[in-house]
Amino acid sequence: MDESKFNKVDFSKYFQPPSLKAARRRRRETVHIINDFSIPGDMKTIGRGKKYLVETYGCQMNEHDTEVMAGILEEMGYQETADVNDADVILINTCAIRENAENKVFGEIGHLKPLKREKPDLILGICGCMAQEETVVNRILQKHPQVDLIFGTHNIHRLPQLLKEALFSKEMIVEVWSKEGDIVENLPQSRHGHFQAWVNIMYGCDKFCTYCIVPYTRGKERSRHPEEIIEEVRDLARKGYQEITLLGQNVNAYGKDLQNPENYGLGNLMDEIRKIGIPRVRFTTSHPKDFDDHLIEVLGKGGNLCEHIHLPVQSGNSDILKIMGRGYTRERYLDLFYKIKKAVPNASFTTDIIVGFPNETEEQFEDTLSLVRECRFDGAYTFIYSPRAGTPAARMQDNVPMEVKKERLMRLNKLVDELAAESNARYQDQVVEVLVEGESRKNSEVLSGHTRTNKVVNFRGPNSLIGQLVNVKITDAKMWSLDGEWQKEPEVAGR
Ligand code: 5AD
Ligand code: SF4
Repeated sequence: MDESKFNKVDFSKYFQPPSLKAARRRRRETVHIINDFSIPGDMKTIGRGKKYLVETYGCQMNEHDTEVMAGILEEMGYQETADVNDADVILINTCAIRENAENKVFGEIGHLKPLKREKPDLILGICGCMAQEETVVNRILQKHPQVDLIFGTHNIHRLPQLLKEALFSKEMIVEVWSKEGDIVENLPQSRHGHFQAWVNIMYGCDKFCTYCIVPYTRGKERSRHPEEIIEEVRDLARKGYQEITLLGQNVNAYGKDLQNPENYGLGNLMDEIRKIGIPRVRFTTSHPKDFDDHLIEVLGKGGNLCEHIHLPVQSGNSDILKIMGRGYTRERYLDLFYKIKKAVPNASFTTDIIVGFPNETEEQFEDTLSLVRECRFDGAYTFIYSPRAGTPAARMQDNVPMEVKKERLMRLNKLVDELAAESNARYQDQVVEVLVEGESRKNSEVLSGHTRTNKVVNFRGPNSLIGQLVNVKITDAKMWSLDGEWQKEPEVAGR
């Protein structure tokens, strides 16, 4: 590797060390709306006859960023391929939330090394959350010279320029912005689905939970203007989309950063979207602290607003929640849970839980078990705490051995499984509405989709049902999915 690549990088320009003080300041920075994205003239056909592949790790936000990058690459003439050997550009869209997510990415970068040696013209790029971390960029610069390009989460719209630099330069191109204040509105998107779509409503997170890297990798909270979101949703409705998911790291903070004398928030936005002709509307991810009464009232109106609430609790113990910086107690979480349940009686609830937070005691962990038992969640994503460099929790002494954390995770998962089976059993013999998403991954003769409450349903039927809402009678409720029979609509004479 050319040493100059390493010397060129001035990290102080790129990375903002984690700091709550800086976070308070950053909230006051102005958000610029950019509407003039275009592909530079000399890059408009650069991809003709060439192929791209984006590998995506992590959350829905990353999935959607990949759709944007795909849209940009396609406007430059590139075509998608699923085969790495066939690709001229490979981008790895990375996740930094836990150490094992990062390890997977480093494994993949290693796997691609021989291919790059074989095909020196291949462009290998690393983007997404890991690219926002100084330690990661250092490691790539020092150990993975096969990488041509590193860019962050705030400069995706600069992909054409960055790709050009990577194509014509012998050096590794690194462009990662830490100071983000922009929302780029007119980016192309190559959506993966034709009947389900992600819609970003806001970017970033200002919550700074003490274990979490996201506020540093995704930057400050910034909401899109309601008119822009509503126009995008109307457009999707016109195109026949059946389901949208409103996306943000903390969707309940929607609107707080807008010049907003009427306190327009997520409740207002959902109330408007409710009136648009899209059969299903979902939203993720919620934060219990900002989940307000107006939103609950709007969710209670039902209609196209789906009865599934993902409400991460993280821990059932108030002292741990306090050290996590979550801003609510066990009691407040439960109050909110019951309030939503009352307003939306058929709602399913899922959650995220971290076990083995630094110094978590057996009693504190048992509080988590008892909260899970009380809420009888339909499902939960459970994780062992993973220290993230630079976050406050990573500096805490931790007296919980890894074996204890693993054993707690197993106990928690056993309970989560039991409750999932119990909640699915309630669907036995019921007729449910299913959005048919495609063939089941396990058996191509079986179709698969989700209920409004986000349960997986498998059933037999013709492929022509894919993309449609159909009724299915549940015949066999399993732990993590429901098997059923398609309820064919009776033929109406003369139609
Ligand atoms: N360690 C383990 N789990 C984490 N999460 C976020 N940060 C960490 C971490 N450092 C989990 C939280 C969050 C979900 C997306 O990932 O439960 O809700
Ligand atoms: Fe991370 Fe979510 Fe907390 Fe934001 S609200 S810091 S994304 S866990």
